[in-house]
Amino acid sequence: MRVLLLSGPNLSRLGVRQPEIYGKATLEDLARLARDEADVSKIDLDHFESSSESELVDAVNKARDSYDGIIVNAAALTHYSWSLRDALASYPGKVVELHISNPLARERWRHRSVVSDVADGVISGFGSVGYPLAVAAISRLLERG
Ligand code: DQA
Repeated sequence: MRVLLLSGPNLSRLGVRQPEIYGKATLEDLARLARDEADVSKIDLDHFESSSESELVDAVNKARDSYDGIIVNAAALTHYSWSLRDALASYPGKVVELHISNPLARERWRHRSVVSDVADGVISGFGSVGYPLAVAAISRLLERG
């Protein structure tokens, strides 16, 4: 099974960006945690990071031919990117939405996700542990078919 981990805007600054909210781990650290879990689950995991909405949309559309599932932390795009939502809605594989923090426990504008209802499940609020949890979750979803 092949899974694509997608990271949206400003996640490349993890480690220095608001560590009181997002912790001290860098995006590379989080991707490594995800990869370690992927090895256990015998999943081939690739990671693509971009702050560009169009690059993320293109990545989702290309993924339909090569990946069985997508784990997406769309960062702020979660809350307003209809183009990313449309791309995910037409993606035939499994989709897990992932957040480090719990957006529902934060500012009101973060309470709406435009991608949650086109995802198979959502993992949020567990900090860095969310990354291996998301891999374990998508692995179960893929096993189930
Ligand atoms: C985030 C939550 C979003 O609201 C925020 O814009 C981010 C990160 C998270 O992982 O907690 O950039 O997706």
